[in-house]
Amino acid sequence: MKSLSSLTAIAALFFLVSSCNNPSGNEKSTTVKAGVTTKDFGEFEGKKVQLFTLVNHKGDTVTITNYGGTVTSFVVPDKNGNYSSVVIGFVSLNPYLQKPPYFGALIGRYANRIGNAAFTLYKNTYKLNANDGKNTLHGGLKGFDKVLWNASVPSDTIPSLDLTYNSKNGEEGFPGNLEVHVTYTLTDDGGLKIVYDATTDQATPVNLTNHSYFNLSGNVKNSILDETLWIDADKYTPVDSTLIPTGEITSVKGTPFDFTTPKKIGRDIDQVKGGYDHNYVLNRTDSTSLEKAATVTDSISGRTLEVYTTQPGIQFYTGNFLDGTFKNHGGNPITKHSALCLETQHFPDSPNKSNFPNAVLQPGEKYHEVTVYKIKVNQ
Ligand code: GLA
Repeated sequence: MKSLSSLTAIAALFFLVSSCNNPSGNEKSTTVKAGVTTKDFGEFEGKKVQLFTLVNHKGDTVTITNYGGTVTSFVVPDKNGNYSSVVIGFVSLNPYLQKPPYFGALIGRYANRIGNAAFTLYKNTYKLNANDGKNTLHGGLKGFDKVLWNASVPSDTIPSLDLTYNSKNGEEGFPGNLEVHVTYTLTDDGGLKIVYDATTDQATPVNLTNHSYFNLSGNVKNSILDETLWIDADKYTPVDSTLIPTGEITSVKGTPFDFTTPKKIGRDIDQVKGGYDHNYVLNRTDSTSLEKAATVTDSISGRTLEVYTTQPGIQFYTGNFLDGTFKNHGGNPITKHSALCLETQHFPDSPNKSNFPNAVLQPGEKYHEVTVYKIKVNQ
């Protein structure tokens, strides 16, 4: 497979084999020099775009571009030691500029939907740009996924990338200057850790996430309906026909939305109109700690994805709108159900739903959320 070989080549490039004598002095072990390398990835609005490759000591790699703060690949071994990317993405900038459905991107100022592209805060009504029928989706016409972030590499030896973006007062209709700081780190245990921080000078709704699409088999020809999902959520938020929450918080028990016991994603999907695209209310023990929220397992590759988050919700989306327009890493078309998303978040349309957890950031407060996507391999 073309995509696989090019990604393996990327991984191989960053393998620096060092000889470590063991105590007996006659055997060698292979280690990888962890760190970050940078290369040019084209141009956007007259500015240079970069691609950063993060590599950990095991030789896992994550590539991230500062266009949209987008994760373009996450390359890990399967049970047979073959490397492939568990997220969908592209090998060049150009397809990202063709407005794909947020593949791997950072999402803001408000992830998911705000109904009727408006909300009222302290008696002021703010009109946003509508980009999903009459609603606002993922920040509007030019969300954080379509801007160039400032990037810096904080360490020579830690595979980590700092991204900042200053969203101006009035951008896409949102109030307040919002300073956003996102740090990606690839940990040695196969975790992609994402830390989101933000401050504002006026009260504003904030909901930041990453929109990676996972196919744990590494091959989009394999449907994610055969993967097995567990979500630590006894409740979810039902939606109307435009995917705006009705405001209800409903038990999953006895419904196709129940993933409290692991089950194949495809088992009950026919009973869900359009496929899964719903916010799950996570069973949290407290409101700020990093807790395991979901796992996905794939028998073909032996890989498991574990999702940890500090956030109250997670959008489970089965790639219902994927239609084959884009090709994964230059190879196979990305079609319906060829990838899934688990977008950690505040609940959609919270600015218009007073019974949902508060998603408004105040001046002087610090927005701080953490999510980890960890890949494990069963040998
Ligand atoms: C989120 C939304 C979906 C869809 C995708 C992007 O997951 O909930 O409805 O818009 O993003 O296509």
